[in-house]
Amino acid sequence: MYQTIVTQVDHNICTITINRPDKMNALNKDVITELSAALDEVYNNAEIKAAILTGAGLKAFVAGADISEFTDLDGVGGAGLAQRGQDMVFNKIENCPKPVVAAVNGFALGGGCELAMACHFRTASETARFGQPEVNLGLIPGYGGTQRLVQLIGKGKAMELLMTADMIKADEAKTLGLVNHVFTAEELLPKTTEIVAKILGKAPLAIGKIIALVNEAATVSPTGLANEIELFGASFDTEDKKEGAAAFLEKRPAAFQGK
Ligand code: COA
Repeated sequence: MYQTIVTQVDHNICTITINRPDKMNALNKDVITELSAALDEVYNNAEIKAAILTGAGLKAFVAGADISEFTDLDGVGGAGLAQRGQDMVFNKIENCPKPVVAAVNGFALGGGCELAMACHFRTASETARFGQPEVNLGLIPGYGGTQRLVQLIGKGKAMELLMTADMIKADEAKTLGLVNHVFTAEELLPKTTEIVAKILGKAPLAIGKIIALVNEAATVSPTGLANEIELFGASFDTEDKKEGAAAFLEKRPAAFQGK
């Protein structure tokens, strides 16, 4: 039994719901551990042929990594956090031989946007919001955001979103190619399940090969991911990170010094 996620297998599709709605489904250590275990189940259980990732409640898919866990982390700890997440969850999703689709039901910010981007493709509800607000915290993305956002929406728009921390709505995310379909909140899961069920009618071995080859065509630079981990860690040794995390938890704007 999981504590921070809920999994349900129906007609060979495993729906994984991140379940911390009072904390906007933020990714803490336990969520990462449990998502990793659920993904192992997707890989290894022959009854499961695809997965859908979503968030509990109507407000959030995932509002990022859990900022309350940042306070005590130095550079080494920050890099360790990013490495652990990338290895245990993000890269595991991307390389899964079975389709993994994100059904984005609300805020997908920071690690939440990155989680959706690690999936093979994305659908969204009309209420979904996407963004990479790490710069508000004196940080950079640590779960592949600087790499996968560029792949999905192109360099110029990725630069703007990463540097401004702007949030975009579902329809703009669709225009940019970040999500494939926008549905009403009620239709999000049934319609996403319909798309996944269509895929499950095709030859599974062929689907696995397509995933591997499309990933190869859209290769995320291996040095890019490693450098992101290193620089994410380095951000944790700055005064700006201390100020950014404290400002968020104290619910006030941050005053950055560039130190
Ligand atoms: N980490 C830890 N806690 C988070 C969180 C996160 N990433 N995102 C939200 N929460 C918590 C809030 O602290 C709050 O907790 P509290 O009720 O104990 O005070 C609760 O979730 C509800 O969030 P709140 O900010 O009150 O809701 P809102 O509707 O006013 O705003 C967001 C929603 C998503 C816009 C806002 O929570 C936000 O900006 N979150 C952080 C996004 C972010 O920077 N992510 C990147 C992390 S690297």
